[in-house]
Amino acid sequence: MPAVQPGILAPVPRAARYLTFNLKEGTDPRDTLRALARAADGKNCVVGLGEPLLRALNRTIDGLRRFPVFASAKIDIPSTPAALWCWLRGEDRGEIVLRARAMEAMLASAFEPISVIDAFRYGSGRDLTGYEDGTENPRGKKAVQAAVSDDMKAGMAGSSFVAVQQWVHDLEKFSAMPARQQDHTIGRRKRDNEEIGGAPESAHVKRTAQESFTPEAFVLRRSMPWADATRAGLIFTAFGRSLAAFEALLKRMTGTEDGTVDALFAFTRPVTGTYFWCPPVKGRGLDFRAIGL
Ligand code: HEM
Repeated sequence: MPAVQPGILAPVPRAARYLTFNLKEGTDPRDTLRALARAADGKNCVVGLGEPLLRALNRTIDGLRRFPVFASAKIDIPSTPAALWCWLRGEDRGEIVLRARAMEAMLASAFEPISVIDAFRYGSGRDLTGYEDGTENPRGKKAVQAAVSDDMKAGMAGSSFVAVQQWVHDLEKFSAMPARQQDHTIGRRKRDNEEIGGAPESAHVKRTAQESFTPEAFVLRRSMPWADATRAGLIFTAFGRSLAAFEALLKRMTGTEDGTVDALFAFTRPVTGTYFWCPPVKGRGLDFRAIGL
């Protein structure tokens, strides 16, 4: 088993906090990153590095780029690059709050938070619409194959790429839909999670059927619902051996190929879009050899 950050392959935790940071202007982040490599275990804290950070370090990671502009006349897909991403995972929300504060303090000399989002598991792993999320995720060896880079160079073996988007749901609009229309939006029945063979082409699972792509577009989804006082939705998170499968999926969702837009867009929209490279682990910390640390 390659030295992948274990939180990537583990099931979605009960609670989480997503911290996203920009690099402070005029700072050299290397000492702070060394401290991060010792502090983050990849299990309770999964870490991703963004293209702006690598550019500041004068480094490149093959396959990491900025979140692209998805050219679709009908849908706006934002691209919101960021330097650093920490997905704090756990079972106790209080403990996560305290860990997040410690992490922010540790990073403060070089990084400033641009977003802090609390997320949670709903029931057996449902989206806030009530639908099971993650059913068609690859498992076991197939999960590793989908999510972990096959680059065997030191510092790259065991690494992964992740696409992260915050989606804001219009839950009133969704709950006003008749049950059949809801099921046809997803392409599965909420009642028993059965796939609906005769669902429209716009149904989400028809747009994203991973085996229907050439090459097949398997990703490892680890999305979690989020909510604040007024808004709610999903932090969509897809890990990949590269970012190609995610891009193929989203391209088809936006109707760029055939004009059919994913029915999800009728009630939900992404408000962020970021790519990160998740380094492998070494011992009890992160392995930053690929960025020269
Ligand atoms: C608010 C946003 C989203 C929601 C609520 C959502 C929800 C769901 C649900 C309920 C399923 C069916 C069960 C399952 O297999 O997990 C599903 C499947 C899937 N979704 Fe999403 N999803 C969202 C966004 C996305 C995005 C942005 C992508 C990729 C770009 C994506 C990729 C997939 C894939 C690959 C499947 C499995 C399809 C298959 O092979 O059967 N989803 N999603």
